[in-house]
Amino acid sequence: MTEQVTRATFDEVMVPNYAPASIIPVRGQGSRVWDTNDNEYIDFAGGIAVTALGHSHPKLVDVMREQADKFWHVANVMTNEPALRLAQKLTQKTFADKVFFCNSGGEANEAAFKLVRRYAFENFGPEKNEIISFFKSFHGRTLFTVSVGGQPKYKEGFEPTPQGISHCDYNNIEQLKALISDRTCAVVMEPIQGEGGIIPADIDFAKQVRELCDQHNALLVYDEVQSGVGRTGSLYAYQQLGVTPDVLTTAKALGNGFPVGAMLATDAAAKSLGFGTHGSTYGGNPMACSIAEAVLDIVDTPEVLNGVKSRHDMFVAGLEAINAKYSVFKEVRGMGLLIGAEVVDSYKGNAKAFVSAALEEGLLLLVAGPDVVRFAPSLIIPEADIKEGLARFEKAIEKVVKANAAA
Ligand SMILES: Cc1ncc(COP(=O)(O)O)c(C=O)c1O
Repeated sequence: MTEQVTRATFDEVMVPNYAPASIIPVRGQGSRVWDTNDNEYIDFAGGIAVTALGHSHPKLVDVMREQADKFWHVANVMTNEPALRLAQKLTQKTFADKVFFCNSGGEANEAAFKLVRRYAFENFGPEKNEIISFFKSFHGRTLFTVSVGGQPKYKEGFEPTPQGISHCDYNNIEQLKALISDRTCAVVMEPIQGEGGIIPADIDFAKQVRELCDQHNALLVYDEVQSGVGRTGSLYAYQQLGVTPDVLTTAKALGNGFPVGAMLATDAAAKSLGFGTHGSTYGGNPMACSIAEAVLDIVDTPEVLNGVKSRHDMFVAGLEAINAKYSVFKEVRGMGLLIGAEVVDSYKGNAKAFVSAALEEGLLLLVAGPDVVRFAPSLIIPEADIKEGLARFEKAIEKVVKANAAA
């Protein structure tokens, strides 16, 4: 007999590293989600920028079923057709010549960070091992990725962590100039910081980072785990910046919720992960790769990418109209459908209050740090759902503002 589970079961049997909401979603369709009580929600969160084609996309469900009937797994002592096709598409559509598959963003970054060290080791010697990244950046939860990440709270209590890593302020080229040297093997950046508060890179800054890397024979790694796969209105955000990295990591939306990650690299860089240097049991499995191939086929079309731009405008206009009434945000910013609304000082540290109130109004939202409400919906969210979701958001804001005035 199946035992009844509720939100309380979480506290009984799960490690307390998460604090999930009170509701338990059980099914989704497009940009709508239903919970155990059949309450319906509009999804402006997309997991966390994951379900770029919404829930239960019919084409993805078909592809998944088809592949499930064929086979799910083959060890990496053999290759498989879906992995080869996906790698072919990723290399055709980007700067990259070579691909390594894994299962998550953190793993893709782990591979990238190992690659840049190994590349410098083989080409320049062991002293060239320093990695520079940016404060507020987020690259995953493994020991190496929390160390490269620019948020000390994620490292606390896990020391000793990998060494040879330093950080400077994002969009501050002078600080980077002061840090970079011939011992630097790589600079790692998100082209738009996600978890750090939805902060886009200045184009000039991004260009100068590339130049500094070239001057010091350092590789440039773009973490596009959150910004990739159409999220910003181009397949990858670097394609809008006019800056090409040497290594790029992608995950999240690549599988639309099915776990898959990839590290893309130039030929020159990829050579350094020679036979036996790195690996993953599940990386490149045929299930994940067949789904990711279908995701790419759908996302990388003018219809979807242009739709991201028009939906961005709808979101920004809607949020600004709401803000004109309530004055709760100091800035609405972002690229494509990765949008952040930073709260004014009177709500500083309390962006979560808006997200919790939104949940009560039937709207799934996210924060990006303590001060920013984050919107990362499906790239194909219907306009009617955007309108309805924004109306629910306005009700949530009204509640928070009233509660605040009464306090
Ligand atoms: C930019 C970035 N890199 C890496 C990660 C980690 O990805 P994962 O949770 O799949 O390991 C995330 C997740 O939020 C991210 O936003």
